[in-house]
This record gives sequence, structure tokens and C-alpha cells, in this order.
Amino acid sequence: METRPFVHILILQVFFLILASALDQRLFLYVPAPVNTGSLRPLDRNLVSLSIQARDFTVFAKTNLLRNFLGALSVNIRTHHILRLGGAESDKTIYDPDGTLTSEQYMNGNYGGSAQNVTLGPNYFAAIKGHYASSTKLIWTLNLRNVVNNWEAGISTAQGVLKYLGSELEYFEIGNEADFYGTKGWRDQTWDVAEMAMQWKWIAEQVQQFNPSVNFGAGAFANIPPNIVGNFDIPGVINAGIKGPNIPWYNMHLYPQSGCGGKPVSLDTLLHHNAIYNTLSGYIPQIAAAENAGAKFAMGETNSVSCSGRAGVSDTFASALWLVDYALLGASLGIRRAFFHTTPNGAYSAIIPKPYKKDSVTYSGGFLPLAYGVYFVSEILSSQDNLRVQPIKHGSDTDHSSYAIWDDKNKLKKLVFINLEMYNSSTGASNPATPDSPVYPSAAGRGSTRVYVATPWALGEKLSLIRLQGPGSNAKSMVNVSDFTFSTEDGSVQSNVVDTILTVQADGFVIFDVLASEAVLIQHYSDVVANPHPTKSQSTPTTTVVSGVTMITRGATSPPAASAGAGQPIIPISIGLK
Ligand SMILES: *[C@@H]1O[C@H](CO)[C@@H](O)[C@H](O)[C@H]1NC(C)=O
Ligand SMILES: *[C@@H]1O[C@H](CO)[C@@H](O)[C@H](O)[C@H]1NC(C)=O
Ligand SMILES: *[C@@H]1O[C@H](CO)[C@@H](O)[C@H](O)[C@H]1NC(C)=O
Repeated sequence: METRPFVHILILQVFFLILASALDQRLFLYVPAPVNTGSLRPLDRNLVSLSIQARDFTVFAKTNLLRNFLGALSVNIRTHHILRLGGAESDKTIYDPDGTLTSEQYMNGNYGGSAQNVTLGPNYFAAIKGHYASSTKLIWTLNLRNVVNNWEAGISTAQGVLKYLGSELEYFEIGNEADFYGTKGWRDQTWDVAEMAMQWKWIAEQVQQFNPSVNFGAGAFANIPPNIVGNFDIPGVINAGIKGPNIPWYNMHLYPQSGCGGKPVSLDTLLHHNAIYNTLSGYIPQIAAAENAGAKFAMGETNSVSCSGRAGVSDTFASALWLVDYALLGASLGIRRAFFHTTPNGAYSAIIPKPYKKDSVTYSGGFLPLAYGVYFVSEILSSQDNLRVQPIKHGSDTDHSSYAIWDDKNKLKKLVFINLEMYNSSTGASNPATPDSPVYPSAAGRGSTRVYVATPWALGEKLSLIRLQGPGSNAKSMVNVSDFTFSTEDGSVQSNVVDTILTVQADGFVIFDVLASEAVLIQHYSDVVANPHPTKSQSTPTTTVVSGVTMITRGATSPPAASAGAGQPIIPISIGLK
């Protein structure tokens, strides 16, 4: 049925990338209906989630930034957010059911008096309860390291969590990065996954006595394939007997760049699609092992650079583009969820909940560019349908990455195109919530790629195009999703998304430009109207026409009927191979 119009496109595919000049590229893509639907991977509505240490969560509970941010994401993904409360401090956490610290003390960063350990008590839960978006589900990481009184620390903490947060618990993890326990001196040199599994299972059995239906996520190992030691990986943990109906998830941790001890890291690495592919494809055997055990695979803790990230890399717009490519490529390989680690003042944090001091400089609370990458993904996930993802054939090279998003009836719903070409700007180079970094403005102008995608969509159909945009790869501010921004005061919506209306051309062609360091999302405008989206309260939608292109600003009230927005005029299309 659709072969005829596409014949000339098939010839074009061979020349899919035409370099007109260094600054102006053209890319021809063809998105046929999927032949092998088994190659499409589901897009989990919680694909991009956050990970915060239980200890730090009290600091996030002091302001509304996190609460409102999660609330906005939930509107788009049409379900609750899942927050993982875990990290290195999990293995220092003990629980005192008679502890008397007040919730105010926890919120002020008092974790129980001991410099070494975090002691939670009933008021810890009072400090966080109700201070994050309602209906949020929590993953809680228990202490596996502390063996005192037969792992009393982990087991009693589980009892407290079940008592105070039971209805909000998604599942428990046991131990954080246990593959490092041997080298950290917390266990002896024979420490391996078999020994760990005995201890893990013992804690799990005790916790199940409090609630037999409680679930667990297993893994949480730090070493990146292929650097696995002691069989600390998903096949290893399953072989050691950690499997069954109460273990629906397995996970590993991934920081593609190591920032510990001041090691050199680079912004360029974030913008190489091939580098992202090489890292994520190493997890294919891990994903397969989880799925063969009847479970799913997640990246349980992740971000750009380990050890709290690095200013000039993790806090730039490049990291937001990286997150989008990582999430979609990961999903297309079977990484169902990725939990981006967030600390109260780490350079890799999406949210800085309140002002802080570093090297005697005071920084403000607010949002770093990564937050807009997270938000952009929530726009991709916004749908009444169960979505599935596949990279577009010939649509990826070092500087480009593209994805087709389908519903479960094999209808093409959305297109995502990411231009990862680097462009540095002196505009937007600083952000009051993070330290300044040296700026190396690009000598040449900003590149742009004109993309021609042949789709199965009907001639004349109206589409929405939105952009994840910023002044440059190195930008730390002026980043937004088609003008959508969060208020740095309280995390509420500060300005609404503006949909640019495109029209499907002859032969199903969709044509658009993407600047160097920019991503676009294209979908039916009728779907945008049909789906709820976060907006500024009491705003009304408005339509403007700029140089013949219709732009519709979203509003809290319904937009004008889908007839609004003339779209760009339909132009006869003739693409020659000149
Ligand atoms: C603090 O944590 C360490 C490591 O898990 C443990 O050895 C020690 O017993 C803990 N201290 C207390 C007071 O529980
Ligand atoms: C959104 O980002 C673009 C590119 O940085 C900028 O030109 C525009 O002013 C921003 N819009 C808002 C509302 O911040
Ligand atoms: C852009 O800036 C980053 C640091 O922000 C630097 O690593 C990179 O080399 C710069 N690129 C160019 C082309 O100058």
C-alpha cells in the first residue's frame, strides 16, 4: 500500500546524509510501518525517574521545588512518579524506633548525632510525609553492610519504612553497590555474589515476616560491564538464587564518566551518540538475564559523572540532550527505567532545592538544564496509548540520533530527533544555582540540520513540534522546552509550552530544522490537545502566526478547536539528489 510513494526515498536512503556545508546538513529518513514488531520495545511511563538519598530527601522536603516538579511530570506521564531513596548513605543507615529527633531537625540536616551513621527515627518519616507529590511511590535501599545483631540496621529500618510509608513502597533494595564492599574493606577478600546472596536472602526473609507481599529489586552493583568482578552482575545474582515472583526488577548503576578524585571528565563525551551506544549496549546480556528470569531491568542509579557530577559538564545543556538520547536508546534496548541521582547541590542534580554554600560562595536553589531533559522525556511519554520505541534506521551517527514512537496497534505516534553537534555560546553560560565554568565560545556559527522524514502520516495532517532548546551545549541557563520553564522560586510552571504547528506534506513528508545541540519532538497536534499537560494556572491558550508559521501557546483552559492553527502551507515536494 505504501510502497509506491516511498520508492524514491529508498534510493535516497543510500545518501541519507548530505553535507551541504559545515553548518548546514540535510538528512533524509524513512519511517516505514514496523516489519518486525518484536523489535519494538515498550516505553515505561517511569522511564526517567529520580534517585535521592533517604537522608537528603529531608532537605528536598524543605521547599516545593521537587514536589511541583514531580507533579508536572505526573500530569504528562499520567501516573505517579517513582522515586528511589538510596545511595552510599543507605549502607550507613540505622533505625531507632524510640529516636527523639524532631522532623525539623531532620529537615535541617541533623541525621542522628553520629558523624559516621545516619540514625532515622519516627520523625524522619514525619519530615518527608506529604512533602513530595502525592501518590509518589518509593523504592527504599536497606543497609546490607551493617552486620551488627544479625543485620538489625537493615531489618529494623524496613520495619519503620513499612510502618510509616508502607502504602507508598514500590519495593526494597538491599545494599548499595555491594560489589565494592570487598575493596572498601567492609568484607574480606573472598567477598563474591554467592556470599552476598546468603546475607541478602536472610534480610529479605526477615522483612517478609513483616509483610509477605513486599517486593524487592536486586542488583544495585556499581561496576560497568565488562569490568564485572566476583560475578556481581544480573546473571550472577540470579545464579546465586536471588529470583522469584517477589523480585520484579533487577538493576545496575551507571556513571559513564568517573569524576571521583578530580579525574578529568569531558562535555564532548556527552554529545557522542556512538559513545552512549557503546556504553548501553554492554548491558544487553544483563537485560536478557533479567527478562529470562521473568523480571525487568532498570538503571537503578545513574547520571553523567560519578561523585556528585562536575560543574561545566553535568550542569550544562549537553547533559539534558545526553539524558534524552540515553533514555530512548536505553528503552529501545530494554532498559525500562533509569533513576537519575540527585543531591541537594551536586552539579548533576536536576533540582537544587534550596540555597547552599560551596567554597564560601552562596548559590541559590533552582533548576539545572538536566531538569528540562527530564521534562522533555515526559512530553515524549505523554499518551493515552501504551507506547513503544525504535531507533530510526540510518537516523543515527555520532552527531545525530532519532527515534520513532509507536502505539500498540503499530500506528506511528511520535518522532524524536536529537542533534548532538556541539556549539558553545557565551549566552546563558551561568546559573545562580551552580558554580561558573570557563567558556570557550565556538568560532564558527551554529550548525543546523534540515530533516526530511517520510512517514505513513496523511497529507495535510496537523502536527505539533516542540524543542528542547538552549543557547549552546555549554549553557547552564536559558534552557527550556519550547518556552516551558519552571519557577526557581517554587517549581511551579512559569511559562507554558508553545506548540509549533507543522503540516504533513506530499508522500507523508515531515520537514523541519534542528540546530546543533537541540532536540525536537513531533506528534499529532490532536494528541497534544487530547492529553493533559502541566500549565501555568489560569492561563489561556493563544495562537500567533510568525512568518506564516502557526504557534499555539498551551493554556490551563482548552485550546481553540483543532481547526485553530492553519499550519504551514502545503508545499509540493521534490527532493533531487543534486
Ligand atoms: C555505624 O555503621 C558502621 C558500619 O555499618 C557499624 O559498624 C557501626 O556499628 C555503626 N554504629 C552504630 C552506633 O550503630
Ligand atoms: C527558551 O530558550 C530559547 C533558547 O535558549 C530562548 O531564546 C528563549 O528566550 C527561552 N524562552 C523562555 C521563556 O525562557
Ligand atoms: C566547548 O566547551 C567545552 C567546555 O564547556 C569544551 O570542552 C569544548 O572543547 C568546547 N568546544 C569547542 C568546539 O570549543
